[in-house]
Amino acid sequence: MKTLKIAAAMACIAFLPNLASAADGATLFKKCKFCHSLEAGKNKMGPSLHNITGKPAGKVAGFKRYSDRFKAADFIWTDKNLDEFFQNPKKISKMTARLSKAEDRAAMIEFLKTK
Ligand code: HEC
Repeated sequence: MKTLKIAAAMACIAFLPNLASAADGATLFKKCKFCHSLEAGKNKMGPSLHNITGKPAGKVAGFKRYSDRFKAADFIWTDKNLDEFFQNPKKISKMTARLSKAEDRAAMIEFLKTK
């Protein structure tokens, strides 16, 4: 039953229209907060994104749901890595929320630096 609910929620997310017309990280983050919190130590379906820029990928303390690929990841979240990841997260992870516009990715990366 729980799995069903999660699947339904994920389907909704996949069909959300683009929430922001102008690139604004806080607004764009609405696409992410179902799975991510910005509070240190508060993991949801995805790891906490508190202070994620400059941190090693796949290493948020207490987050147990990393895919094998993320568990084995050996790189730091630089602006460039985040940009590539948000453009096509499926390439390296089980995460599906992508930001297809370059300006949205830039806004998100700047936003995350403040959190
Ligand atoms: C449906 C749930 C879900 C949504 C929505 C989602 N994520 Fe994720 N995210 C995850 C999961 C799960 C992982 C771990 C990926 C893995 O292990 O393959 C992850 C990983 C990440 C990471 C890497 C964290 C680390 O510890 O290395 C970043 C950065 C990230 N997400 C940002 C975002 C942003 C920005 C958005 C919104 C545009 C978003 N996510 C939307 C589930 C989600």
